Amino acid sequence: KRIVILISGRGSNMQALVKSNIAQVEIVAVISNQSDAAGLAWAAEHGLATEALNHRDYEGRDAFDRALMERIDTYQPDLVVLAGFMRILTPVFCTHYVGRLINIHPSLLPAFPGLHTHQRALESGCRVAGCTIHFVTAELDCGPIIAQGVVPVLDGDTAEILAQRVLRIEHQLLPQAVADFVAGNLVIQGNRVNRLEAGI
Ligand code: GRF
Repeated sequence: KRIVILISGRGSNMQALVKSNIAQVEIVAVISNQSDAAGLAWAAEHGLATEALNHRDYEGRDAFDRALMERIDTYQPDLVVLAGFMRILTPVFCTHYVGRLINIHPSLLPAFPGLHTHQRALESGCRVAGCTIHFVTAELDCGPIIAQGVVPVLDGDTAEILAQRVLRIEHQLLPQAVADFVAGNLVIQGNRVNRLEAGI
């Protein structure tokens, strides 16, 4: 299966995905909306096709998303992975890739959609935090959930410390979710994802 990964920055989730070397998976491109994203340099050094599309070069969300779709589609991906892609995508974009677009979000959705998830979890007094991998729909951070990973919130945690703890499980969960998708194990029913057992 052909996978395009979208990033905006560091790209540690993208790296985890690349390093996991999932059978039958080819990472056909890594695309960033920030040309100076550290993750983009890493991907290029590792022989992956990379592209930068600066959203500031476009007259608004629709134009940027149209251009992004055009670039993505030249790679004919089976799956598009948002791995720390920090742009809200238009309904047209989300609809175009429905069922083949997944996102990793650093909270236990539906708690804390959007930004500053760790700070908000701490301020809410949560005793657990985590991350969610989900199919993307037009509503932000709301699509069918594929997998969630949980970590404890410990006394004295700062947003940075908690983010580090969550990030470690993000790196495990994302390759696992992609492997499940590629194996055809994920069936979307309404807002739920059912998992086919191997061999059934
Ligand atoms: C991750 O925590 C991801 O869940 C969030 O932004 C962070 C990106 O990290 N959306 P990286 O670029 O994958 O290192």
